[in-house]
Amino acid sequence: MMKISPSILSCDYGKIAEELKNMEACGVDYMHIDVMDGHFVPNITLGAPVVKCIKKATAVPFDVHLMISEPLKYIDDFAAAGADIITFHTECDSPIDETIDRILSHGIRASLTVKPNTPVEEILPYLDKLSMVLVMTVEPGFGGQSFMEDMMPKVSLLRKEINRRGLDCEIEVDGGINEKTIAIAAKAGADVFVSGNAIFSSPDRKAAVEKFKAIAEENYCK
Ligand code: DX5
Ligand code: ZN
Repeated sequence: MMKISPSILSCDYGKIAEELKNMEACGVDYMHIDVMDGHFVPNITLGAPVVKCIKKATAVPFDVHLMISEPLKYIDDFAAAGADIITFHTECDSPIDETIDRILSHGIRASLTVKPNTPVEEILPYLDKLSMVLVMTVEPGFGGQSFMEDMMPKVSLLRKEINRRGLDCEIEVDGGINEKTIAIAAKAGADVFVSGNAIFSSPDRKAAVEKFKAIAEENYCK
């Protein structure tokens, strides 16, 4: 089943709870919460206290994307705040295995991601412990960037490896996803699609979510 995870980085933070409720009404599957520390990436967004508050606004699972240098230090806080999936970067300063184990110790889902310049092979040693892998299709730190189609071999390689190992692991893509690029990503084997700008700027968000899902279903190659 193809899933849509809207990135709240592109929402109106002045009415964030309302925006989450609106996304739930649009039928999204996850809520993509971009956490940035101004060190690992240039921007600063929000922390666990905000996640805790907005968690009350919706029943949709929180897909938390940590773009921070020391994720291990904050796993307990984000898990307590209501994260359902925590994704962190292989390029971070925390020990990867220990950080994955800390996420799993909370009974929530662990996911790893790589920046565009990092080979996806870096994730393979941990794949058996993950229930999602995120392939960045933009340089992390900003919404509204253009999709990097040359990231698709990473998705295809992951799809083949997940199938070969018989793992129950989703492949999420993040950055520049719109009705054109979602088809490309689904063809490569992605089944979860983060989209910020394309959904939040759409005049009919519900129609956009439904259209994205339909295009992904049509083009998906397992
Ligand atoms: C970028 C974030 C993405 C971004 C996606 O660092 O991780 O989730 O917000 O936004 P769009 O869909 O606008 O590229
Ligand atoms: Zn993200």
